[in-house]
Amino acid sequence: MVGADPMPGRSPGREHTGAMDRIIVRRSGPLEGTVTIGGAKNSVLKLMAASLLAPGTHVLHRVPRITDVACMRELLGSMGVRTSWIGPSSLEIVVGDEIEPEAPYELVEKFRASIVVMGPLLARCGRARVALPGGDDFGPRPIDMHLRALEDLGATFTTAHGYIEARADHLLGTRLLLEFPSVGATENALMASVRAKGTTTIDNAAREPEIADLAAYLNRMGAVILGAGSSTITVEGVDELHPVEHTVVADRIEAATYLAALGVAGGELTLVDARHEHMDMLIAKLGEMGMRISPDPDGIWAMAPRRLRAVDVSTLPYPGVATDYKPLLVGMLASADGVGIVTENLFSGRFRYVDELVRMGADIRTEGHHAVVRGKAVLSGAPVRAPDIRAGAALVVAALKAEGETVVADAHHIDRGYEDLVGKLASVGADVRRG
Ligand code: EPU
Repeated sequence: MVGADPMPGRSPGREHTGAMDRIIVRRSGPLEGTVTIGGAKNSVLKLMAASLLAPGTHVLHRVPRITDVACMRELLGSMGVRTSWIGPSSLEIVVGDEIEPEAPYELVEKFRASIVVMGPLLARCGRARVALPGGDDFGPRPIDMHLRALEDLGATFTTAHGYIEARADHLLGTRLLLEFPSVGATENALMASVRAKGTTTIDNAAREPEIADLAAYLNRMGAVILGAGSSTITVEGVDELHPVEHTVVADRIEAATYLAALGVAGGELTLVDARHEHMDMLIAKLGEMGMRISPDPDGIWAMAPRRLRAVDVSTLPYPGVATDYKPLLVGMLASADGVGIVTENLFSGRFRYVDELVRMGADIRTEGHHAVVRGKAVLSGAPVRAPDIRAGAALVVAALKAEGETVVADAHHIDRGYEDLVGKLASVGADVRRG
């Protein structure tokens, strides 16, 4: 259950933005100033799930106030875990001796990341009942690799009435070979194997910084994990884990969003707490587009010219250019100088926002996994709809170079992954408001 907010003056509504579901943007720039980057959505949700592994009181710092965190709090609450804000971005998680190892459909359908409770529940309770997640706007998103990895560790599964029933009297360390470096499957395997008997090796593991963050949290809890952040992770199972405090890694996708806004609007920004080394490939691409970006003692410093140059780009698992950056890159290319070809290699359906950009005057053709973007000097403000988190943010970013007013509807999608996108952009000079 989502607890009452103990921080008067801070809007708990950021987590559950019911009203004001539109973001209104006018042409802006140059941007100037400082934006503080929050904790990574794609890490914190897994850390919250990992807390199920150890009874006691955990504290996570740099937790973003986003809807997906509220949903994970609700899911943990339904299992009997209490969570409460104990500071502007610090979340206390109290895990009891008894937890209910079930993830009900009405909570799972709200956010797909909930599947990562499977590994920790199996490791902690020896059983789990988790609703099957549906597809989403990216197209089908199977979980076969999650289940195969857990099966190899000794779990058995049956499915009935839309639920997966999992059992594992004993998890036994073994060699897992992932068919693809899936982020979620690596995380589920990691969280199950920390309590398995003996040694587990995860080969072809995902290498994202959020995986390394999860391993750091688990190691602090008493796990023995080597190699996280590389393609081979080795885990020595332990009998017991204990609760800890941990600061969530900074969100590289949020940081990329402000770099994209800067690229479209021009100007100079410092992104406090952003991690340059987690964004190497993207930063190289943005450099080719004409931006200057350097590590700074505070985070990342960046400067953008009045107009970007077009480049070609393909998404790949980390350390390649992340699929989550792609809508932002397409949004940037829409008003860049020249033609860019963008290739999506991870999610088949991830071009749906292109129609919305076209409504804003962008010249984009899609063919299968490719989009050809012919840059226009300016776009034209229009009513559009946010189809998902990153695409929604990309529409806001692209609108910074659109004459007139762009109204982005369904802004609740953006709130799933961004704490106060509008406030942060406005604070560096963008003409953007909620409405
Ligand atoms: N896949 C399978 N079978 C599986 C698992 C994955 O076929 O069992 C396929 C997927 O369908 C997809 C590819 O493998 O085509 C990659 O999926 P992956 O498992 O790596 O992604 P994920 O764990 O479901 C996370 C992020 C996404 C991000 C991807 C890729 C979270 C909560 N989500 O998803 O982030 O796009 O990794 O980096 O961590 C977002 O933040 O908006 C977001 C969607």
